[in-house]
Amino acid sequence: MIIELEKCNIRSYQPSDAETLSKYANNRKIWLNLRDGFPHPYTTDDAKNFISMAMSKNPETYFAICTKTEVIGGIGYSLHTDIERISAEIGYWLGEPFWGKGIVTDAMKALTQYAVNTHGLYRIYAVPYETNKASFRVLEKAGYQLEGRMRKSAIKDGKVIDQLLYAYVI
Ligand SMILES: CC(C)(COP(=O)(O)OP(=O)(O)OC[C@H]1O[C@@H](n2cnc3c(N)ncnc32)[C@H](O)[C@@H]1OP(=O)(O)O)[C@@H](O)C(=O)NCCC(=O)NCCS
Repeated sequence: MIIELEKCNIRSYQPSDAETLSKYANNRKIWLNLRDGFPHPYTTDDAKNFISMAMSKNPETYFAICTKTEVIGGIGYSLHTDIERISAEIGYWLGEPFWGKGIVTDAMKALTQYAVNTHGLYRIYAVPYETNKASFRVLEKAGYQLEGRMRKSAIKDGKVIDQLLYAYVI
């Protein structure tokens, strides 16, 4: 899969992405805003394992955010099942040197449409942590609306925190 955008491309992962992926993913500032399943430190082996998992999924739901030459971040969603099979949770991160250029906003707009069209979804949501103002802005700019505050719903880096619930609904 490849989607070519103005500020980045979104494409399937390739085994050759592992070194570069781990270089950008190995960043505590990124880890602090993601689930603990995202390793820290983030090694090349972690990247290889993740890429092989992403490539083996059918349908594919985890994608690389890239420049013309290299992977610079990740974006993906988990499809829900049973009565929630019309819904998915989306997540994303970008290498720190590329922050603040509108790249993830571009990627979120495109992947939201891709996910809706490909899987027949009615709802895609994200749960950024209460401190993640950059992520709130990305979600707002990509057409997601704030639905609520999930009080004390997570523990990250030893602190109990609120998560904000943002959703895109067709
Ligand atoms: C959140 C993240 C994905 C944003 O990616 P990005 O490509 O830099 O985002 P964009 O450039 O498209 O948009 C960022 C917006 O946040 C704003 N912003 C950035 N830092 C901010 C802050 N501390 N306070 C308020 N707004 C902030 C920017 O000004 C911009 O908004 P604007 O266009 O209205 O000026 C990136 O910072 C990241 O990877 N962070 C770590 C991982 C993470 O938080 N993932 C999301 C988990 S929910």
